[in-house]
Amino acid sequence: MEEESPSLAPSLPVPNVQEMVKNNQLQIPERYIRSPQEIEKVNYLPHLSSDIPIIDLTLLSNGDTEELSKLDIACKEWGFFQIVNHGVQKELVQRMKDATTEFFELPIEEKEKYAMTSNDIQGYGHAYVVSEDQILDWSDALILVTNPTWYRKLQFWPKTPIGFKEIIEEYANDVKRVGEEILSSLSLVIGLQKHVLLGLHEELLEAIRVNYYPPCSTPEKVLGLSPHSDSGTITLLMQHDDASGLEIRHKGCWVPVTPTSEALVVNVGDAIEIWSNGKYKSVEHRAVTNKNKRRISWACFLAPPDDVEVEPFDHMIDAQHPKLYQKVRFGDYMRQSMKRKMEGKAHIEVAMINE
Ligand code: OGA
Ligand code: NI
Repeated sequence: MEEESPSLAPSLPVPNVQEMVKNNQLQIPERYIRSPQEIEKVNYLPHLSSDIPIIDLTLLSNGDTEELSKLDIACKEWGFFQIVNHGVQKELVQRMKDATTEFFELPIEEKEKYAMTSNDIQGYGHAYVVSEDQILDWSDALILVTNPTWYRKLQFWPKTPIGFKEIIEEYANDVKRVGEEILSSLSLVIGLQKHVLLGLHEELLEAIRVNYYPPCSTPEKVLGLSPHSDSGTITLLMQHDDASGLEIRHKGCWVPVTPTSEALVVNVGDAIEIWSNGKYKSVEHRAVTNKNKRRISWACFLAPPDDVEVEPFDHMIDAQHPKLYQKVRFGDYMRQSMKRKMEGKAHIEVAMINE
């Protein structure tokens, strides 16, 4: 008998933001309004955007020492970097962008054929909504587990536009390849043999989350996506180059990540922070919205299989660097993180050793 694909986590049903905006562009319901303190535009440092490291994947994969050192610095100081020369074809990215745009422009009745159910966050809807009084994000999402293939729940994969399923599959497989190459290099800069990190991802879990951020008449009052860190190993994000929105936490301030044509934005997740005993940071990030433009982004999350136990590697621990995190079973860690609202780096604290 075939094993049933496991569920990720439940989330409460909330209104569709795109429809809300379509019906009334000026209305911002109370549940979306944040306090100015939460938005913190004062600590906004856009000029640092160009300091976010840009890494050439071809050089990195060839073992170029300068590129490896850039990766090490990027993971230590930023937790984020952009990848160029990654080999994901421009034409495939364009097909993915076109098909996604077409999907989100379909009538709501059509999109709701793929609506998330109450026990899982695969499909079209909203994740991480855990209480009736939680402030909501100004976005809708399509979330699909893409690998391993037996995890897929094909009933949530859109049948319109025609061919979208195949495009998602092709895109996800190509981004997975890029992710695996980055994992090999990460293994080296962490001080392990090249294959070690990949070896911990023998059945690598990959999920795609397409974020749709409708325009907002008062973008300073809402957030497209609450501040959070990603719980997996690494995330590879593609953003439309005509609208910005991603902001990352750097030295206590917010720095926007300016979309760079054809680059993939990569960030280190909680699993890498734990394995590296905090040397590499899973950095908090969020998305803001635009007044006149909608924004779409595609995040591919890579994570270890559920039963992998994640804890700091022995060689990362010494007298100057005491063990900061306890062992977690990754599947439990990830599901617990999905049962709470996204809240900065709050979740990784469950793994921290507090002495
Ligand atoms: C995410 C995420 C940022 C963005 O989906 O986890 O951080 O710019 N997205 O959409
Ligand atoms: Ni994220």
